[in-house]
Amino acid sequence: MDAISVIRAKRDDQALTDAQIDWVIDAYTRGEVADEQMSALAMAILLNGMSRAEIARWTAAMIASGERMDFSPLSRPTADKHSTGGVGDKITLPLAPLVAACGAAVPQLSGRGLGHTGGTLDKLESIPGWRATLSNPRMMEILADSGAVICAAGDGLAPADKKLYALRDVTGTVESIPLIASSIMSKKIAEGTGSLVLDVKVGSGAFMKNLDDARELAATMVALGTDHGVRTTALLTDMSTPLGLTAGNALEVRESLHVLAGGGPKDVVELTLALAREMLDAAGLSDADPEKALADGSAMDQWRRMISAQGGDPDAPLPLAREQHMVPAPTDGTLTRLDAYAVGLAAWRLGAGRARKEDPVQAGAGVELHAKPGEEVVEGQPLLTLHTDTPERFDTALAALEGAYEVGTPTARPSSIVLDRV
Ligand code: URA
Repeated sequence: MDAISVIRAKRDDQALTDAQIDWVIDAYTRGEVADEQMSALAMAILLNGMSRAEIARWTAAMIASGERMDFSPLSRPTADKHSTGGVGDKITLPLAPLVAACGAAVPQLSGRGLGHTGGTLDKLESIPGWRATLSNPRMMEILADSGAVICAAGDGLAPADKKLYALRDVTGTVESIPLIASSIMSKKIAEGTGSLVLDVKVGSGAFMKNLDDARELAATMVALGTDHGVRTTALLTDMSTPLGLTAGNALEVRESLHVLAGGGPKDVVELTLALAREMLDAAGLSDADPEKALADGSAMDQWRRMISAQGGDPDAPLPLAREQHMVPAPTDGTLTRLDAYAVGLAAWRLGAGRARKEDPVQAGAGVELHAKPGEEVVEGQPLLTLHTDTPERFDTALAALEGAYEVGTPTARPSSIVLDRV
């Protein structure tokens, strides 16, 4: 077998054989297939696609490239959630302790942000003392003890995806349904969760810009999970405007704490509860009441245990950026549009995200929203507040926001953040 014949086959729109797929993933993981060869193959897959059978084999080969975790010794059922990535998507933070408070074990292996979407680990690292890295035995210990863990995936889990994702990120080959589905599901299946709920984002701030593509991605991932014995469902949710009122690391932790205290923005609470119900149903805990767990403080108690178990101080003040800049509403009227991608880009340019994976992020940087689409605003009132430690970044963040919002006469908006279920 050789890389050139595999690349040529996909370039000429042929289906790859099982043997070709197994060989190319294994040889790439071992370094025998070079990055430039794999990037040519990834581009051919992006342009010509893969059949469901090819995607299934590609995913199985990526799982086989590393270790598989096993949570069967735990006495509770396991449930996990994965979001395809959005702006202001802090849902994992209130959701993991909430679902654990309702009786499930939540092994949430999360990532860092790259580009305009934030990463859960970057958000949690704004809590003084909190550490993302855990050994597998320590992860099991915390799960058995308190039920929820949010930590970095170890290097042993789907190493083929780790290499391939980094390569796709710099070769314009992220936005491919076969490659996204196999990347996400290889990690989740190798992680060993018993059930999985996928939050597939749709809109300007997401990889999938329209409902049809999002449905196809969701159906592909649900089929992959189900075939590997993981009870998998998906919600398609709106990402045309940021989720909640904040995009940025410490800003989003603060908002998550409001949700855990029984408050918080309506869309964040609605999505947290919708995903919690899906996870609890999939874990066989349909009688649990997540609304009650938010109201009676048990989800917040669980959060405090989860943060302390990883060295964090749940009572420490969260960092604030040194400088703020207010963006006023241009006129009186209804805010009809506030674009998710533009806000994500502005937060990233303010220092909340990174351009290369080794770059540091600013804990306090980001964008705070003072109104959501559908709400009335008055000329001159604060519409957005930009936060950063490095005020020379305000100009490029403001450039990202040019044309990103409109104030005018009200237009019809979806009544729920959840657009569909697969
Ligand atoms: N998240 C992943 O883990 N992989 C992708 O390909 C896209 C989003």
